[in-house]
Amino acid sequence: MYSNSGSSVLSRQTLATHLVQPYQNLAHPMRTETEEHFVSTDAALLDVDFIHAVLNRTYWAQGRSREVVQESIRNSICFGLYEKASQRQVGFARIVTDKVTFSWLCDVVVDEKCRRKGLGKFLMSCVVAHPVVSGTLCMLGTSDAHGLYEKYGFRRSEQMKRPRNQGEPNKSADSMTSVGAPSAAVTCPSVAKWN
Ligand SMILES: CC(C)(COP(=O)(O)OP(=O)(O)OC[C@H]1O[C@@H](n2cnc3c(N)ncnc32)[C@H](O)[C@@H]1OP(=O)(O)O)[C@@H](O)C(=O)NCCC(=O)NCCS
Repeated sequence: MYSNSGSSVLSRQTLATHLVQPYQNLAHPMRTETEEHFVSTDAALLDVDFIHAVLNRTYWAQGRSREVVQESIRNSICFGLYEKASQRQVGFARIVTDKVTFSWLCDVVVDEKCRRKGLGKFLMSCVVAHPVVSGTLCMLGTSDAHGLYEKYGFRRSEQMKRPRNQGEPNKSADSMTSVGAPSAAVTCPSVAKWN
């Protein structure tokens, strides 16, 4: 398929088309909603103050500066979870990805006051339904929420990781993976429908 023959050129073109199509429409933010909440990939809606504050209360992102949060948002596909009535942001997740082969899910968090009401599951259903996530190998690291991710097709698997160098310029950023956690690797199924 990948040799230099004429038919392989066609195969490569077909492959390229196949790879590009799933996210051709991603120029437009995606949104999916329930009666009281919605999830959107519109970066303009994100409340950086909320995201910075709630991440700093997690076990993996304590001490992450607002600038680093902002830069990580700029370089990721971000999912905001919002209350419809107040338009207040109450959850967040982001995907770091090459958009064709691999994606990494991180910073999944729901406002403490809104937990245990199914919102984490709503957020996750939107994440795994996103064409980039459903079309790539998606991985994550967690120390205790395996049960949540297993509901969305993630399976436990051992991975290697290299922590960032302390002396590198981005030293204010914390490590990309969760602390000391076994990672789970999986290709994600589609669960929710984007509109
Ligand atoms: C994890 C988190 C996003 C879940 O959000 P939530 O709105 O409380 O979750 P939901 O109400 O949708 O339910 C989560 C489901 O996953 C399950 N689950 C498994 N491990 C869990 C964990 N560590 N925390 C929360 N839920 C967990 C719950 O039992 C529940 O399943 P059920 O409905 O069958 O009982 C939220 O608790 C949170 O922000 N926690 C702090 C940050 C965090 O730990 N993020 C994940 C780290 S990788």
